[in-house]
Amino acid sequence: MNKQFDVLVIGAGPGGYIAAIRAAQLGFSVACCEFSAYDDPAGEPRLGGTCLNAGCIPLKALVASSEAFEKAVLHLPDHGISASGISIDVAKMQKRKEAIVTKMTAGVKFLFRKNKITLLKGRGSFAGKTDAGYRIIISGKDGNEEVVAQKVIIATGSKARHIPNVQVDNVTICDNEGALKFTEAPKKLGVIGAGVIGLEVGSVWRRLGAEVTILEVMPSFLGAADESISREASKLFLKQGLHIKLGVRIGQAKLNDKGVSIAYTDDQGSEHTLECDKLIVSVGRIPNTEQLNLEAIGLQPDERGFIPVNDHCATAAPGVYAIGDVVRGPMLAHKAEDEGVLVAEQLAGQKPHLDYNSMPWVIYTTPEIAWVGKTEQQLRSEGREYKVGQFPFAANGRALGLGDSEGFIKMLADAASDEILGVHIIGASASDLIAEGALAMEFRASSEDIARTCHPHPSLSEVMREAALAIEKRALNM
Ligand code: FAD
Ligand code: NAI
Repeated sequence: MNKQFDVLVIGAGPGGYIAAIRAAQLGFSVACCEFSAYDDPAGEPRLGGTCLNAGCIPLKALVASSEAFEKAVLHLPDHGISASGISIDVAKMQKRKEAIVTKMTAGVKFLFRKNKITLLKGRGSFAGKTDAGYRIIISGKDGNEEVVAQKVIIATGSKARHIPNVQVDNVTICDNEGALKFTEAPKKLGVIGAGVIGLEVGSVWRRLGAEVTILEVMPSFLGAADESISREASKLFLKQGLHIKLGVRIGQAKLNDKGVSIAYTDDQGSEHTLECDKLIVSVGRIPNTEQLNLEAIGLQPDERGFIPVNDHCATAAPGVYAIGDVVRGPMLAHKAEDEGVLVAEQLAGQKPHLDYNSMPWVIYTTPEIAWVGKTEQQLRSEGREYKVGQFPFAANGRALGLGDSEGFIKMLADAASDEILGVHIIGASASDLIAEGALAMEFRASSEDIARTCHPHPSLSEVMREAALAIEKRALNM
């Protein structure tokens, strides 16, 4: 007799493992299958998906190490600290990153055991439906097993998109998998795509001494951010020595003795070749739907490969849901997690709701960039009347003390009601500061609510309050 579960989750990334945990908390019998995209040295699947294995967590470990190195080299003297012979041992830095990944992925296994979630080791694919539920084949290393589940949550995530004429080998020409594993800092690094990965990973290796050139097809970059933030970022990145070439067309990449040469045409139509030791391809990601055999339950991906779902993450097949990178919306770990909770709570008869407009975005560059809600350009195109308050970190004592005084916070509020419509940050600790903006938007707070809230002194959060005060032109420290 096949194993039967109330809920089967396909994929153990942040969407899938959180959905499984919440469903188990709510009393369902839950299984989660994972096909071992990331094995540990013993050949066991490491849980946590892209986020824990080849995305957020390892990349932020490298961001932290490279920032510490750059601070030591460039900023310790400002504090009167002299240190000589500062160097970076990239192998040790990578070992530290691996230890964090191992700890986090093992943590997910622990949570599965704690919540009595059955881990099925293998690739899940649909085989059809019977009165007992959906039939799913789990193809593992030791063969196939069929299980039956009343409800299924597809959380199979995404993988890097590649482009023609640029053959990724994840040694010299890398996507996110190889780009996080360099054993030494390249002298010259090429990056295709000035998106989130290009900027974050490019900044890691720039801090560690690489000459980084980013080739971007669009005439501008950071198009999703508020225009004043992208302008400021562009200025700061240029000052740091990150070369970003916009409006290029990528030609052929060729491996050679020294690394790789990449042909491209610039925005004036002139042809160039960039020689580099390593090349990173970061041109977006595509959803993982192949081999799910969706046809067996009457589903098919849309023209971009995403599984169509409604506002509640329900697919057209009753009882089958899809969450995270495999469906519409931003490809963010916290979005995947929140959709996982949303689906599990719906299955338990609750009425959860997700407001995608109050979901924060963060880009882990130096300084960090973060935002929530609408940009000025979006509000203008909607014809909405709004007020703007902006305050620089340079006028904040804590930022000066930390030696991190670049950037600003900008708040946008409705001209009539004063409801906060967007918060945009470029500056130190933007990733943490933005949580206040997200909370305010969830509560539909006004800028006056933040302006009247006592903030600790001295702290970077005072910049948020001053930006709120600036909306009514009453910033106190400027
Ligand atoms: P995934 O994490 O991709 O997990 C899907 C899982 O499903 C995988 O483990 C895969 O092996 C498994 N799977 C696939 N098919 C099957 C199958 N048929 N059967 C069984 N298992 C299957 N987001 C942020 O919010 N913040 C960040 O700082 C951030 N940094 C990133 C850095 C990089 C370099 C990258 C690449 C991404 C980053 N992201 C970040 C995005 C984030 O990683 C994803 O949005 C998130 O992991 C999506 O979660 P998911 O559960 O939908 O899918
Ligand atoms: P992206 O969508 O952020 O950026 C891709 C960039 O490549 C765009 O600027 C695009 O115009 C450019 N591009 C596309 N085709 C090109 C071509 N042929 N030649 C040159 N440029 C080209 O995608 P990226 O950076 O690969 O990241 C994938 C996803 O991972 C992101 O969408 C994001 O959701 C997630 N992510 C999130 C992070 C975070 O939250 N901090 C960090 C890293 C990734």
